[in-house]
Order: sequence, then structure tokens, then C-alpha cells
Amino acid sequence: MSKTQPGSSPRNIVVGVSGGIAAYKACHLVRNLKEHGDNVRVVPTANALKFVGKATFEALSGNPVSTDVFDNVDEVQHVNIGQSADAVVIAPATADIMAKIACGRADDLLTATVLVATCPVILAPAMHTEMWENGATRDNVATLRRRGITVLEPAHGRLTGKDTGPGRLPDPAQIAELVRTELAGHRLNFDWSGKKVVISAGGTREYLDPVRFIGNSSSGRQGFALAEVAAQRGAKVVLVAGATDELPVPSGAEIVRVETARELHDAMDKHSQAADVVIMAAAVADYRPADAAESKLKKGSSGTALSTLEMVENPDILKGLVEKREAGQIKSQCLLVGFAAETGDQSGSALEYALEKFRRKGCDLLMVNEVGRGKVFGQLDNSGWVLSETAAGEVESTVVEPGSKQVVAAQILDCVDGLARARN
Ligand code: CTP
Repeated sequence: MSKTQPGSSPRNIVVGVSGGIAAYKACHLVRNLKEHGDNVRVVPTANALKFVGKATFEALSGNPVSTDVFDNVDEVQHVNIGQSADAVVIAPATADIMAKIACGRADDLLTATVLVATCPVILAPAMHTEMWENGATRDNVATLRRRGITVLEPAHGRLTGKDTGPGRLPDPAQIAELVRTELAGHRLNFDWSGKKVVISAGGTREYLDPVRFIGNSSSGRQGFALAEVAAQRGAKVVLVAGATDELPVPSGAEIVRVETARELHDAMDKHSQAADVVIMAAAVADYRPADAAESKLKKGSSGTALSTLEMVENPDILKGLVEKREAGQIKSQCLLVGFAAETGDQSGSALEYALEKFRRKGCDLLMVNEVGRGKVFGQLDNSGWVLSETAAGEVESTVVEPGSKQVVAAQILDCVDGLARARN
């Protein structure tokens, strides 16, 4: 995970907290940012302090906390905090604070700080679904996004009380990762609205019997990070997830759960029909047992020898999508992105094997990473190359700088964006 490098100066992050019940989650956000080596200044509104006490924020951030422009006037805080910030994140951002910021008001320390800030400003809304969907809020969100403020999509789920819907504050760790993505220079500026993006993630499970399967160690993290960043750029995202680590559902994405390669194949076919971008980040099993037993196999049972398994090949989903595009069954301008996790050996490097795979698969972009010896699978950081074809038919590789899976996702999506623009 990308931490502030030892010896480099910590970044100044202002955590604004407005008055909603999710204010307690801001404590986890502050802790996460501090643990990554950043200097955090919490600026709550007066109403936020009705939910969480000043002492908690002071203890967690190690910095003084005030709410009013008339506190410590000699330090000119209402200007200094915003001027020296590398990022301002407000979590939770209520409908009221967004309305105030959209109007350019500055009647407390938090709104004054936002008005002064020239750094990335990220709002993580949390409110009841009715408030999120109200025309006034929609207009304010559109105004803020147009002005370059990042307004994150809220998560779907249980709200205060019995209702569920969009309006939940995303997981604080997700917010922190998105803040770091912006700090790494990748804006989440909602420029993908109107695009449909389908992403597969995780590993498949091929069952031998009802309780045993052949699987792999893919965590699903890269695919989930892609879904998160694409949704925060405004795309309509369908995330088709196989077996993964326990990961929060990316805010704003629809999730479809599958287990086997054939289920994944069916789901990808169904959802790719109107897609503008399809990304196959899933680790798909190439083979499955020829016959899955209906009841649990017994050691030494006659007929089925567990020591030898007959396997049959699974469909190549990515190659199939390339063929469907050629046959006009999916949009002709749909961009298809593959992943290749390679290890080098005596006969070739990881990149050389990936070049061969890129040609064989026929996709538009191939994200390559070198795996093995503790690299990539299950790790929080990633890096690699994105392969593409130039107009002259040469294969070009773009370096994906090391970073968190969200930062890598942003770089991959930048390559997709670049290709889409070049083809239009
Ligand atoms: N893939 C797929 N369907 C499969 C196997 C792989 O769509 N049955 C996709 C993966 O999601 C990935 C890309 O193809 O985007 C490359 O996967 P990989 O397993 O590296 O490629 P294989 O073709 O299986 O080649 P090999 O395992 O021999 O390296």
C-alpha cells in the first residue's frame, strides 16, 4: 500500500466532518490516513460534535480541533488550514453542507476552508435516499462536480432506521484509498457518465463434488478497485465477482455473484451486450472436472478415482467477446481489456509471454503483471505494463507505476480512456 515514504514530508489532509450519524466513521478515516503517515487536521461542524466529541478527533489526529472562524483568530485559521492542505475530504458530507458549499458560503471553519482550498476536495455524502435523490441535492452535486469537486457516489445499504438504499457512507478504508488516488494525481472527476463498464473479478471454482473444488488464490482486489474507480468516474458499472477475499462492494456498482467459469461466461455475455468497456480481471480456470459428482466423493469409492481427474476445457470468455464483437453481437466500439499474470522462465520473460498472449487473445489492451514470489496475488500494491497496438500494428507497452490497486486501476482506466478518445 502506498504510504508516505520515510523521509518525505507528510501530506496535510483536512478531514471535514458534518453533522450526520456516520460522523463516527470519520474516526476510522482519520486513523487510516494517520497510519499511512499523513498529517491530519479534523475540522468538524458544530453539529458533527453532537455525534462525536472534540477530544476524540484531537486524540486521533494529534491536532487541535475547532469549528468556528472566531476560534484562534490570531492564527487566521479560516484561511491557513485550506491554503496548506494537500487534500480536503469531508466524510460524511450531509445534504446541508453540500448545499452550503455549492452556494459558496463560508460561515464556519469547514466551509471557509473549502472556499480557500485549491487542492483536491473530495466529498463523501451520507444521507437518506430521499435526500440524495431530491432535485435540490442532485443540482448541488452537479454544480460541485462541474466545479471540479469530487463528490463520491454513496454506498447502497442499510441506513439509519429500517430503510435501505443509496446514501450510506462508503467504508472509511475505501474513502481513504480514493483520497490517496486523487493525491497520486488521478482525479475522480465523473467524466465517464453515460458509459457502461463491465468488470469481472476474483477466481472461479470448479466443483468436483458438492464440497470440493479447484480454485485459485485471486483476491479480487484489482477488479474491485477498477469497479470502484470507474463508478466514481461516473460510469454505470456491473461487477461480476467470483470467489474473492471479503471486500466491500464498490459504491455505485451493481454486483453479480458467480462461482464457476461457465457462470462467469454467462454473466459476462449477458451484461456485455450494451457495454462500452469490458475488463476481464478475473482469474478463470482453464479446465473443469469432466463430471462433477452429485454427492460427496468417498476415498476409494469405486467408479470415481479421486487420484486421477478427467478435465475438460472451459470457454475462453475474453476470446469469445472478441469474436462476438467481430460478429456484431456486442457494440463494435466496445473496448475489451484482458489481464495477464505471468512469471518468466528460462525460455522468456513475463513481458515476452504477455506479448504472445496479447496477440492470441485479440483484446484491445492487456494489463500485465508479474506474479509469484509474493508478488501481486493477495498483495495490496500492484504495478506492471498495459499493452496496446499502435496504428502501425506495433505492440506498445505503457508502464503502470507501482501503487495501491486503486491507483493502478486509475492508470489502467486512463489507458482505456486514451484509446477510446484515439478511436473516436
Ligand atoms: N480468460 C478468459 N477465459 C478463460 C481464461 C482466461 O476470459 N477461460 C481471460 C482472463 O480473465 C484474462 C485473460 O483471459 O483477462 C488472460 O488469462 P490467463 O489465465 O492469463 O490466460 P490463458 O489464456 O488462460 O493462458 P495461460 O493460462 O496458458 O497463461
